[in-house]
Amino acid sequence: MEIRIRDAGVDTIKTDLLVLPVSEKKLNEAPLRALDRRLNGQLKQRIQKSKFTGAEGASLLYSTAGILPAAHILLVGLGQEKDADHDIWRKAAARGRREASAIGAQDIALFFAPSNDAEESAGAAVEGALLASYQFTRYRSNSKPPADIRTLALFKPGLRRSAALDKSIYAAQHVAGGVFLARDLVNEPPSVATARFLGEQAERLCRGRGLSVEVWGKKKIESMKLAGLLAVNRGSQEEPRFIVMRYKPAGRPRKKIALVGKGITFDSGGLSLKPSKSMETMKLDMAGGAAIIATMSRLPQLRPAIEVTGYVPTTDNLPGANAQKPGDVIRYLNGKTIEVLNTDAEGRLILADALALAARQKPDYMINLATLTGACMVALGSGVGGLFSNNQDLAERLLRCSRDTGEKLWQLPLVKEYREMIKSSVADMKNIGGTHAGAITAALILQEFVADVPWAHLDIAGPAFAESDQTLCPKGGTGFGVRTLLKFLSTL
Ligand code: BES
Ligand code: MN
Ligand code: ZN
Repeated sequence: MEIRIRDAGVDTIKTDLLVLPVSEKKLNEAPLRALDRRLNGQLKQRIQKSKFTGAEGASLLYSTAGILPAAHILLVGLGQEKDADHDIWRKAAARGRREASAIGAQDIALFFAPSNDAEESAGAAVEGALLASYQFTRYRSNSKPPADIRTLALFKPGLRRSAALDKSIYAAQHVAGGVFLARDLVNEPPSVATARFLGEQAERLCRGRGLSVEVWGKKKIESMKLAGLLAVNRGSQEEPRFIVMRYKPAGRPRKKIALVGKGITFDSGGLSLKPSKSMETMKLDMAGGAAIIATMSRLPQLRPAIEVTGYVPTTDNLPGANAQKPGDVIRYLNGKTIEVLNTDAEGRLILADALALAARQKPDYMINLATLTGACMVALGSGVGGLFSNNQDLAERLLRCSRDTGEKLWQLPLVKEYREMIKSSVADMKNIGGTHAGAITAALILQEFVADVPWAHLDIAGPAFAESDQTLCPKGGTGFGVRTLLKFLSTL
């Protein structure tokens, strides 16, 4: 898809599909009036008939029947003007992209008039159009290649190319590429996307200036004493992997960051077996790891002036003959011990190793992404990730980035008093809490392994996987977290 910037009036642009964003109840703005005048009042009539008001999510398709150089007009509701942010442009462009596919349009033009931050909004629009074009068709026998969109033109009278605009558009294209990588890794069937496969993909994807990868096999994992990963892997036929990706900038790094991702390639629950319905989507359980691999893979193009190390412990969680048992105790490399009472609370067991290992390097910030708890979905639903942090400055930075990217996060508390709930009668802690606050007790267990490093934990159990088609993503892996992490890294 070629991106163009066009200086043109709304009624002069030649395109297959003209996308005109409309704020709620702002049906009398100049661009809409100009179009309506050329269409002899027909457009206004259609608007009245269809009761289109510009509400968020609403849209109206109108065929100009050759009266205008644009073949079709798509009015896209933006919702209340006061709620406007970058995400508006992301969603408007995404809807245009979807409609274009539906009607076989190859050239889209988006009337582009953000109230401020033109560069950021342009990036968001391009990102939205690209994200909405994702498809995972590798396993379909009858898949036709999607009708490709040739060009996306952002236009309005007086709109000019600038270096800042170009940079923002370029970044959006790379970021979308990263999101696609993460989606692909999650969507791949679990018997294909094994720990070994993830290691190979990391090696394949994370190459380039300043970026290097090490993939540790079982022997090395044993010698590094990653006891949690080994314990979870015991029930499996597949060997575990521990993936370490390092990015070093050309000059002196301004900051040192550690990123950690949960890489459970399939979560059956282990001996604490899940019911089959809950297992259906459990290939998603490496979405955190996939997001970290994808994020790392983009760094050579985006070239932030910071050092970033990505860690992904990966295995499946299966109930094989040698599987770990409820009652077993794991001794970690930082000396702490965990009694495993439920083998389905496995994410925290493998993250503990990785967090303890990463914390030894004393990074300025450490961030982990994990599809950790069903409880977080109970609290926040499937559209919002839970954010936990021992450092409010880091939490707020991430929340700001999340608002910019539209990947929703909501901060939840690390309630000290709830440590009572993870007390064990034989070890330093047990791997499950009580009936309530499951997302918090899981986070409290992770916190035991981060020492005093400023750390944030993103519980992405909900938003990592779309249970139905969304504006920016079809059903399946969403790549949640990639955009927010890349944004965060670019602001340091
Ligand atoms: N991978 C799951 C969490 C999950 C559930 C992610 C649903 C996405 C959708 C995790 O390993 C798990 O099984 N957690 C248990 C913890 C419990 C045993 C304390 C849960 O949430 O039920
Ligand atoms: Mn589990
Ligand atoms: Zn899991």
